[in-house]
Amino acid sequence: MVEKNQNNIDFGYMSVKKTDRQKLVNKVFNSVADKYDIMNDITSLGIHRSWKNDLINWLAPQSTQNLADIAGGTGDIANKFLIAGGNSAHVFDINKEMIQIGKQKYKNINNIDWTIASAENIPVLDNSFERATMSFGLRNITDRNKSLQEIFRILKPGGRFICLEFSHVENELFKKFYDLWSLKIIPFIGQKITGDKEAYTYLVESIRKFPTQAEVSHMLSQVGFSRVRYRNLSNGIVTLHSGWKL
Ligand SMILES: C[S@@+](CC[C@H](N)C(=O)[O-])C[C@H]1O[C@@H](n2cnc3c(N)ncnc32)[C@H](O)[C@@H]1O
Repeated sequence: MVEKNQNNIDFGYMSVKKTDRQKLVNKVFNSVADKYDIMNDITSLGIHRSWKNDLINWLAPQSTQNLADIAGGTGDIANKFLIAGGNSAHVFDINKEMIQIGKQKYKNINNIDWTIASAENIPVLDNSFERATMSFGLRNITDRNKSLQEIFRILKPGGRFICLEFSHVENELFKKFYDLWSLKIIPFIGQKITGDKEAYTYLVESIRKFPTQAEVSHMLSQVGFSRVRYRNLSNGIVTLHSGWKL
C-alpha cells in the first residue's frame, strides 16, 4: 500500500499507483476467469441474469443494429443481444482468459466477434456501431473518462450506450443486509470456490468506491451523451445508465 497522491487511484480500499492498477485488475480476472460465470450465479443468487435481461429489454435490439460490448468478458450481453434480435455483436475485453472462456461458451454462435482490447483504446473507426454496452466493466477501468469518450467515439450518430454497474443501495435496512452479504459472505464464497479471497474482496470494495448514480450520469453527459437517464434495479444494488449520441 502506498500513500494517496495524484498519481494514485483506488483499487478497492487500497490506494495504488495509476500505472499499476490495470495489472492488478488483470490479475483478479486471470485468477477467477474459469469460475467467473458460476461465481456470478452464486454471489448474486442468479439475479445477474435478470439484471442483464433488463439491460437488453431497455436497449430493445433491432435486426439492423450491431453491438459493441465493451469489457464484455465471457459474452453474456453479446449473446442476449443476438437472442433479442440484434444483427451482430463484437465483444472487446482486455483479458485473454475471459475472452477464451466466452469463445468456448458461445462457440456455436456465428455472429459474435471477439477482440482483446482496452476500453481506453478501442481499435475501431469512429461511428462504427449502432449500440454499445458495458456490463460490470466501468468499475474496473482506470481511466473511466477515456473509456466513455471511446464508446462515444465508436457509436454512430443516433447510437445508444447502456452501462450496467453495481451502485449504491438506497434503503437503509436493506443496505445492512446487503453489506453483510457482500463484504463478509461473498469473499468467503470466493475463497471456497476460486481459492482467491482477495479477488472477491477487491470486487466488493470497488463497488463501495464507485461513483453514485448521479455522478455516473454526470460523467456520461460530460463526454457528450444526450438524454442521459438511469434506472435502479434491486433497490440500487445495480443501476442501468443510458445515453444517446445525438
Ligand atoms: C466483472 S467482469 C464483467 C464481464 C461481463 N461484461 C459481464 O457482465 O459478465 C469485468 C470485465 O472487465 C474487463 N476489463 C477490466 N479492465 C478492462 C479494460 N481496461 N478494458 C477492457 N476490459 C477490461 C475484465 O477483463 C473483465 O472481463
